[in-house]
Amino acid sequence: MRHFLTTMDYTRAEIEGLLERAQRFKRRPIEPRLKDRTIALVFFNPSLRTRTSFDVGIRELGGHAVVLEPGRSAWPIEFEEGIAMDGEPEEHIQEVARVLSRYADLIGVRAFPKFQRWEEDRQDKVLQGFARHATVPVINLETITHPCQELALALAMKERLGRLDGKKFVLTWTYHPRPLNTAVANSAVLIASKLGMDVTLLCPSEEYHLDERYLDAARKSAEGNGQKLSITYDIKSAYEGAHVVYAKSWGAIPYFGRWEQEKPIRDKNKHFIVDEQKMALTAGGLFSHCLPVRRNVKVTDAVIDSPASMVIDEAENRLHVQKAVMDVLANGW
Ligand code: CP
Repeated sequence: MRHFLTTMDYTRAEIEGLLERAQRFKRRPIEPRLKDRTIALVFFNPSLRTRTSFDVGIRELGGHAVVLEPGRSAWPIEFEEGIAMDGEPEEHIQEVARVLSRYADLIGVRAFPKFQRWEEDRQDKVLQGFARHATVPVINLETITHPCQELALALAMKERLGRLDGKKFVLTWTYHPRPLNTAVANSAVLIASKLGMDVTLLCPSEEYHLDERYLDAARKSAEGNGQKLSITYDIKSAYEGAHVVYAKSWGAIPYFGRWEQEKPIRDKNKHFIVDEQKMALTAGGLFSHCLPVRRNVKVTDAVIDSPASMVIDEAENRLHVQKAVMDVLANGW
């Protein structure tokens, strides 16, 4: 049995296969590939796109979605093994995952990090707990990576650019008033490098580097494809010649748990906003973002509303790529 927890577990050929399947679903949306199957979607955090696109996609494939919100509409869950459960959680992941596996054919899980200790967050205990104890495939709906978003971005880029090999992909950090998850940033460098792009990570300083686990994987993928992963703090050189600019804000890992000390640093870097002047340096570059996005904080109206913007296409593609993932996990390749 195979889960879909991170694209690091999938070869380039498998990712390309999922994207081809997604293109078929995009052309022909209604197919009974999940007829009479049930998919449990477990949300520990809010969502607009993930929740809606999974629900719609499951229905279009003839299946049924059950949405659970532990701590709200479902019991709070304990993930530590071997402890006396005398706190808030009413049941343990060992029962939750196995019981849901008796009801459902697939389980999706969204569980953001707690943002207090990265060493703790990077263990991804909630997702790993589901994966360890479930007896059906588990899909990552965003924890410390966001693999479904990766596929949606990849499909959007392929639709506009065709082959991605050698194209320059820039992931730029942008300002946001709060520190955000590194998941989409990790994912952006993973998928762009896996698909043969020349990847540049643009951020304000070394403190905003992503976890070495993802940088290292991206570096290896890029080199395996004859490309490279570069990191720069220089906005102009990063944008020059870019084919895709992908914007995301994230919190600096060394400041997890002491965000008041990070705030003055992020406040000094509002100029990382994606605007027309920066986009003019690119090679007619495309723009995208995973959404939700704060207009005129992360990206100007002029850029997000321009023909170069892929944000709505990428969001739509969530529907098609997730159908491909569910089809493969439920029915095989
Ligand atoms: N991009 C994304 O995952 O959107 P939601 O948080 O709305 O699901």
